[in-house]
Amino acid sequence: MIEVNNLQKVYENGFEALKSVNFSIEKGDLVCLLGPSGCGKSTILNLIAGLLTPSAGDIKFAGESIVKTEPKDRNIGFVFQNYALYPHMSVEQNVMFPLTVGNKKVPKEQARAAADKFMRLTNIEDLKDKKPGTLSGGQQQRVAITRALVQNPQVLLLDEPLSNLDARLRLRIREEIRRLVKEVGITTIFVTHDQEEALSISDKIILLNEGVIQQNDDPQNLYLEPANLFVAQFIGNPIINILPMRLEKGVFHHDNIAIPQERFVTERFKAEVKDGNYFLGIRPEDVLPVDGIGAFAAVIDGVELIGRERILKFDLGIEHMKAIVSVEDAIEEGANLNFDLAYHKAFLFDESGKRVY
Ligand SMILES: Nc1ncnc2c1ncn2[C@@H]1O[C@H](COP(=O)(O)OP(=O)(O)O)[C@@H](O)[C@H]1O
Ligand SMILES: [Mg+2]
Repeated sequence: MIEVNNLQKVYENGFEALKSVNFSIEKGDLVCLLGPSGCGKSTILNLIAGLLTPSAGDIKFAGESIVKTEPKDRNIGFVFQNYALYPHMSVEQNVMFPLTVGNKKVPKEQARAAADKFMRLTNIEDLKDKKPGTLSGGQQQRVAITRALVQNPQVLLLDEPLSNLDARLRLRIREEIRRLVKEVGITTIFVTHDQEEALSISDKIILLNEGVIQQNDDPQNLYLEPANLFVAQFIGNPIINILPMRLEKGVFHHDNIAIPQERFVTERFKAEVKDGNYFLGIRPEDVLPVDGIGAFAAVIDGVELIGRERILKFDLGIEHMKAIVSVEDAIEEGANLNFDLAYHKAFLFDESGKRVY
């Protein structure tokens, strides 16, 4: 449905916000553009919407280039972080508005019928006579999304639509958005910097950094099979443990730890790895307290209780590490524990951050 080919954006000041971005999105999919602030997410949305012109590259909808099409003719629904509703209009008038002006203009009764239909879908029909100023943030964002959908766009673009909402409401509205766009069947691009939000609602995630796609994949693959060190560190909370290690004659060394390389041998580890410096990545749930002698011993210097989990903090040389155990494992600060690693779950990255295995 959407194809982006070699898309580049250099702003007037010479800053290259997008290097050469390529991706495609299937019809009806909900795809998240994810990445840290400033990585180019809004730039991509604005290029798709026609609010910006690409410096190079092409964007196609259903096989046809749209870069020369006027923004108003691209048939896009756009929702921003700030709801941008008309304060003097009622909710219903706000929702109807796109159908009362410009090339989407239809007779008033038809506009009202379309507005009513979508207000029922988004559960705001009870609010239709209210003014936006009297609504909560969550309600205002529902109105903005309804107004975008009423135009029956072929693509829905959402730029950090939940950032102004409190945490609990964010959880609820993101589920509503997923349900809604699936019900309507609309191809949707959802921009967020929140990896957990992206993991929870997406069919696919495109993770960007500094204007370059790092990985475009199913949500679980970003977690289970990160393409590089950046992806491994961006996805997952608590963040993955990264240990600089030196491989010498088949043994990984860090501080006073030595782990024979053959422990890591798995299905996916087939690469011949040369001696040298690497980063070992191991997620906190794969750092396991053991009774016998493990890979290393450490003194716990902090314990954080998070619902059903207990996060253990400790230092390994100068590296801060975390392990997750069940809240029922009564481990307290000061405990001296032996740890082992779930070696088959470990990742190895070379000095440039490229995944080796
Ligand atoms: N009009 C502009 N002129 C120059 N640089 C810009 C302009 N707009 C955005 N940028 C820069 O481009 C980069 C990407 O911006 P943006 O796409 O807004 O990032 P994101 O939405 O991922 O936070 C940022 O470094 C930002 O400072
Ligand atoms: Mg942005």
